[in-house]
Amino acid sequence: MGCVVRKHEVVHQILTKANGSSAREKGLAYAPTNIALCKYWGKRNNELNLPMNSSLSIALPDKGAMTTLHFIEDSSDNIVLNGSLLPADTNFVRRIVQFLDLFRKDKNWRLHVDINMNIPVAAGLASSACGFASLTLALNDLFNWQLSLNYLSILARLGSGSASRSLWAGFVEWQAGVQSDGMDSFSQPYMITWPELRVGILPISFAEKLYSSRDAMQRTVATSVLYENWTKKVVQDMALLKQAIELKNFSLLGGTAESNALNMHATMLSSWPPICYALPETIDAMHQIWKLRQEGLSLYFTQDAGPNLKLLFEDKDEATIKKHFPLADIINPFAV
Ligand code: PMV
Repeated sequence: MGCVVRKHEVVHQILTKANGSSAREKGLAYAPTNIALCKYWGKRNNELNLPMNSSLSIALPDKGAMTTLHFIEDSSDNIVLNGSLLPADTNFVRRIVQFLDLFRKDKNWRLHVDINMNIPVAAGLASSACGFASLTLALNDLFNWQLSLNYLSILARLGSGSASRSLWAGFVEWQAGVQSDGMDSFSQPYMITWPELRVGILPISFAEKLYSSRDAMQRTVATSVLYENWTKKVVQDMALLKQAIELKNFSLLGGTAESNALNMHATMLSSWPPICYALPETIDAMHQIWKLRQEGLSLYFTQDAGPNLKLLFEDKDEATIKKHFPLADIINPFAV
């Protein structure tokens, strides 16, 4: 394939590996959301969502999206989110319909897409990650493709980059890959658990984010003089995080994840016009975390494309964290 590979060519290539049997009546799938400890920020290919760098995440098993699909006799797809039929002119519907178009080619099927999410949409809580991952898995179920998870990860990536990591529980690594068609850019899980690890979602604001991650990434890559440093930093952080996970070294994990997030946001802030996802309350919470850490509490944070923070700590400190952050929603990523 040449340099300008289009999404539908990738889909076509993958669907040649699909099982040829006929579609079922209904497709159904759940995908968890994921929080990156080493972030994906910047694309080497905007069409195919190919990242500049590899990234590493932890899944939040009971926060995610359940998608149900069935065929309808209609001129357009129906997209229902948390029980409400969405108007066709919303961004969310446009992205879903464009994704479905990739699989439609000249066929005229239309779908009823019912997505139920238990996290706020477009607030920097990886709703697009679990949304596109569950949609991809539900399509695989509906059309009975029986594709491998590697291929499904590539397809989910075409909807949203971080969706490529949302097909598994636990720690997941998304390899940036080097190929221009992105066939080597997919995610894989680590076969390792860390039962003591906890993630707390610290709500600051669940309003829709000010800038889409797509636009913000493009602007950062195009205008931030710090971007080159970011690409070096992620290589170091990936290695440190892998070491931390292998050794179960919590301060190394938390410190590396926090530093990675702060570097990503500093790189965005140095873009022009500047990109700042933090609100004053986000900065206040950071100071509170740093103060508690100085006092001896092993507490770290990470932040995505939104003002909310995700707290990282171990189960032994859960009661203390609850006392200081009563609004935090605490999740055990390895709960069985
Ligand atoms: O997949 P997108 O386009 O929603 O981008 C995700 C960007 C971050 O959440 C900030 C980082 C990441 O790796 O998840």
